[in-house]
Amino acid sequence: MRKSVVAGNWKMNMNNKEGARLAGEIVNGLKDGFDCEVVLFPSFTTIPSVLEVVRGSSVSVGGQNLYSESSGAFTGEISADMLKELGCEYVLVGHSERRHIFGEDSVILSKKLRIALKYGLSPFFCVGELLEQRESGIAGDVVERQLREVLEGLDESEISRVKIAYEPVWAIGTGKTATASDAADMHSLIREVIENIFSRTISQRMIIMYGGSVKPANAAELIKEKDIDGALVGGAALRADSFLEIIRQSVR
Ligand code: PGA
Repeated sequence: MRKSVVAGNWKMNMNNKEGARLAGEIVNGLKDGFDCEVVLFPSFTTIPSVLEVVRGSSVSVGGQNLYSESSGAFTGEISADMLKELGCEYVLVGHSERRHIFGEDSVILSKKLRIALKYGLSPFFCVGELLEQRESGIAGDVVERQLREVLEGLDESEISRVKIAYEPVWAIGTGKTATASDAADMHSLIREVIENIFSRTISQRMIIMYGGSVKPANAAELIKEKDIDGALVGGAALRADSFLEIIRQSVR
């Protein structure tokens, strides 16, 4: 049985003080132990204070983004090495806001994913279709292409360090969630694509999380689906009570 993973993507919220307080409340709420991996993705400037607060707990921390090159004249960018050296274990790659607001395509996402792996970070690779793609019946093709374009060519040790988050774009921050059965269908397709590219063993081990308006009210029905291994949470991760409740419901 795969251990579930619940991650909080704080996006461009939570300054140092607010982030440290929220992380403290989360660590405190988890002190009795939950059989669930918990990861926080604060903004870059808030990472050090969150790392300080979670030290010694089971909570890990990741970056929301990174640049596709190791170092150099890229004003305003953050490298994989900088995140790793701070103490981050994870990094988000391919979040729909990066794809759609910042125009990141599979070419750049492939480079980002590979540079993350090279520097010892484990990527959460996000995929998901637009509303019109779902309505025209091509959601599965879109997600399969997103997976193949970026993941093909990784070796076994590399793919073993990747987690996947399926986040239908129309469900992010909108209050709309995919039904548990629609999400489950997509998760099982994703697992099949991973099996076809790599192997059954790798696909069975792969953590595939759901994201898009996950809240305490819908977490339990999503996690009971066998191919849904946890949640990538945005809005509901900004309050300790709702985030902790999602974690509680995600233990299996
Ligand atoms: P949401 O965001 O939970 O606010 O929909 C999810 C995400 O963007 O990862």
